[in-house]
Amino acid sequence: MLTETPLGTYIHPVDSTAGAWTVTHADRPHMYRIVHRLPDGVARVDTLVDPDNLESKLQKWAREGFVRHVPEETDARPERHRFMQALKRVSKDTEAIAFSLPNGAGGPLVPAVDPAYLFTSRTHNVLLDIGENRRILLVGHTGTGKTSLIEQIAAQTNQGVLRSNMNGQTTVGDFVGFWTVKGGETIWIDGVLPTAMREGLWLIIDEVDFAEPAILAVLTAVLEPNGRLLLKEKGNEIVAPHASFRLFATANAVGAMSQYRHLYQGANVMNEAFLDRWRVYQIDYMPPADEARVLMRRFGDRLTDDMATTLAAIAADCREAFVREDLSSAFSTRRLIDWTDLMLRTGDPESAAGPTIYAKVTAEDAALIRGIIARHIAL
Ligand SMILES: Nc1ncnc2c1ncn2[C@@H]1O[C@H](COP(=O)(O)OP(=O)(O)O)[C@@H](O)[C@H]1O
Ligand SMILES: [Mg+2]
Repeated sequence: MLTETPLGTYIHPVDSTAGAWTVTHADRPHMYRIVHRLPDGVARVDTLVDPDNLESKLQKWAREGFVRHVPEETDARPERHRFMQALKRVSKDTEAIAFSLPNGAGGPLVPAVDPAYLFTSRTHNVLLDIGENRRILLVGHTGTGKTSLIEQIAAQTNQGVLRSNMNGQTTVGDFVGFWTVKGGETIWIDGVLPTAMREGLWLIIDEVDFAEPAILAVLTAVLEPNGRLLLKEKGNEIVAPHASFRLFATANAVGAMSQYRHLYQGANVMNEAFLDRWRVYQIDYMPPADEARVLMRRFGDRLTDDMATTLAAIAADCREAFVREDLSSAFSTRRLIDWTDLMLRTGDPESAAGPTIYAKVTAEDAALIRGIIARHIAL
C-alpha cells in the first residue's frame, strides 16, 4: 500500500547521469504516470502504472538511492533539476583551483598576515574572480570584513596593496596625480591609481560610494580588465595596467545594501552602468559561530569556548539593534576583538567597554549596549 503521497520527482543526489523519475496522477482514476528523463532532457520511459506497480517502483528507486523532491516545486518542471545537475557537472572543476593564485612580487606594501584571520566560504568566488582579473566590489555594513578579506588574500599571496579612502580628503590629484615643483623643476607625481597600475599593485578603493564624480569618471575608464588610464593632465600619457594590477572597492550602501543608505550619511547612489562593471558581493557580519572561532584563534587559551560564544552573541545582538535603528553605531569585529583584548587585561567587561566601546558612541547607544551586555553577562 502507498502510505504517503508518491507524487514528485525522484532524483539521484550523487549520480548526475541517473536522470529524474517523475510521478504524476494519470488521467485515468487510481493510475499514476511515470516519466523517466535523462539529463539530456529526452524522456526514455513514459508509462502508466497502478498503485501496486508504483509501490514496487518506489522501492526499487529507494534501493538505488533516488530521493523524492517536493511535488509542487518539481512536478510540472523537471528541467529545473536538469539545470542544477548540468550546472554541478560543469562547475565542479572550479573547486580544485580555489587557492591557486599566482604569487605577487612581494615588497613593503604586502599586508601582514593576520594569524587569527578565518577564510570563510565567501572567499572562494572572490579568489576565482581575482584570478580572472575581475573588478570586485564588496558591499556591507561597517566592520563586516570587506577590506580585510582583500588584504588577507593579498597577505597570503605576497601581493602589495594600496588603499584609498573616498570618505575623506582624497582629491582627484591624490587619485590620479599632480604636477609639483621640486628643486626648481616641475615634476609629475603619480596618484594611487597610476601607481598601482604601473607597479602591479592591488588598489582597494574604500567607501567608493562617497567618491566625487570626477574620481568616478577616471575610475570608470579602467574598469575593463585591460582598461587604460589616460593622464590628461600629463599630456595625455597612457598608462597600461601591469598584469598583476587588480582593482577592488568597498561600499556600505550600494545595490542590495541601498535600503541602509540612511545609516551612512552622505553616501551616493551608484548608477547601474557603474555597478555592472563590477562583481558585487554582499558581505554580512560573520555568523556568531565563526566570529567566536575568530576570537578563539586570536586569544588562544586565554578565552574559553563558552566566553567566545557569549561575546559573539553580544556582538550579534548589537548588530540587530543597529539594523533595527535602535543603535546608531555599528558593532564591528574589530570593536569586539578590542573589547575582548582589554577585558582579558582588566578582568572586567564593563570597565573594558569604556575605552573600546562606550567612549566611541553616544550616551544613548552606550546605555543600550550596556543593557545588551548585561543580558548575557552578570556584571
Ligand atoms: N574572517 C575574519 N577573520 C578574522 N578577523 C576578521 C574577519 N573578517 C573581519 N575580521 C576583522 O574584523 C575587523 C573589521 O574588518 P574590516 O575588513 O576592516 O571591515 P570593513 O572593511 O568591512 O569595515 C578587522 O579587525 C578584521 O581583522
Ligand atoms: Mg573597510
